[in-house]
Amino acid sequence: MVKNNKSKKIVITFGTFDLFHIGHLRILERAAALGDVLLVGVSSDELNFNKKKTYPTYCQQDRMEIVNAIKCVGGVFLEESLEKKREYLLHHKGAILVMGDDWEGKFDEFSDIVEVVYLQRTELISTTEAKNRIIDQAGKVYDPVFP
Ligand code: CTP
Repeated sequence: MVKNNKSKKIVITFGTFDLFHIGHLRILERAAALGDVLLVGVSSDELNFNKKKTYPTYCQQDRMEIVNAIKCVGGVFLEESLEKKREYLLHHKGAILVMGDDWEGKFDEFSDIVEVVYLQRTELISTTEAKNRIIDQAGKVYDPVFP
């Protein structure tokens, strides 16, 4: 899925990107603006399960397809292990690693091979928040007896 990247400045970022929302779009657009090609490591279903003890709402194939369809994204790959970040960065010839500022300082160990940039997260939105809002609204919409 990765398009022709020869002699381009490659930016790499990682994430789950479940229930794609405006915070996801904004960080991808700002990450892409830092270089020539943006590659996104979309975390696998198993990786999410191991981390959070629950699977994402959308499966990895769908999440990858959605992220790959975003205009500023040059390609996607599956992130199967948190321990393989260095391997992914080297394999895809990344020049810049972008992470949300919730990870500030946590990826500085890779600054020997890439420039590490932490971008500010968009406020007041996350996949978890969206899920909770849907649950909350569903109760109100589908309960005609107690509006
Ligand atoms: N992100 C962002 N602003 C937000 C939410 C996410 O910039 N409001 C960024 C994250 O910092 C990360 C990328 O989007 O670089 C993918 O984040 P992900 O963990 O998939 O999204 P969340 O919405 O934070 O998901 P969750 O609630 O499950 O943690």
